[in-house]
Amino acid sequence: MVNTLRRTLHRVGALLGPGDLSQQPDIVRLRDGRTMTLRFVEPEDATALQDYFHGLSVTSRYNRFLAAVGELPPSELEKTLHSGGNAFAILATLKTGGVETIVGEARYALDVAAARVEFGLSIDDRLQGQGVGTVLLSNLQCRAMTLGATTIFGDTLRSNDAMQALARKAGFTFATLPSDWRLVRFEKALDPALEMPCADGRALRREIAVALN
Ligand SMILES: CC(C)(COP(=O)(O)OP(=O)(O)OC[C@H]1O[C@@H](n2cnc3c(N)ncnc32)[C@H](O)[C@@H]1OP(=O)(O)O)[C@@H](O)C(=O)NCCC(=O)NCCS
Repeated sequence: MVNTLRRTLHRVGALLGPGDLSQQPDIVRLRDGRTMTLRFVEPEDATALQDYFHGLSVTSRYNRFLAAVGELPPSELEKTLHSGGNAFAILATLKTGGVETIVGEARYALDVAAARVEFGLSIDDRLQGQGVGTVLLSNLQCRAMTLGATTIFGDTLRSNDAMQALARKAGFTFATLPSDWRLVRFEKALDPALEMPCADGRALRREIAVALN
């Protein structure tokens, strides 16, 4: 059953294409009851996104980019603003008094041949430790599945306890990276039989139901 589902995911994913599958934002509920929106980065987000990165603590920025950077370099910003092909960037936003604020972001990319998605993410320092990363990571796993990936992984600094705790709690396993002693890789096999907590997943499930009938 799982294999049939996975084959169908690939087939339907290929038919619809990531662009078609991914236009709807996801509205997710946080522990404190607030709703958070997860949506693709748009070109108009450039300034707000750079402000978000500027606003992160030095440690968070270092952990996110694995280097001491103040903001996204122009070439990276350009890529981030234009999701598509096999590379995507999403924003986590909260609305207060009608104003949308970026409280997190993630980038992920599909390696089609290996059926793997690599990702990185960050959460505003003021919201860390409140379950926001957990929600975002769960959504990323769903997005990876809708792209037809069978595994999802990321690399983080050995010293990054928060990321490792988040990944461990989400069922990732760990491996060393002989190419870089500073890093540890966390990886997880994706199970398409599980609930898909994202709009793409729900849309895909509807397509699967049609394809299987
Ligand atoms: C890593 C990061 C994304 C985690 O997001 P978060 O919203 O703080 O994570 P959560 O609140 O969902 O925590 C998940 C679990 O991790 C653990 N955890 C969180 N922060 C921790 C910390 N500083 N030390 C140890 N464990 C921690 C907790 O066990 C928590 O589970 P609990 O809430 O049931 O206790 C966030 O800290 C961050 O943005 N860091 C800076 C950028 C970064 O490191 N990115 C990763 C690069 S790949």
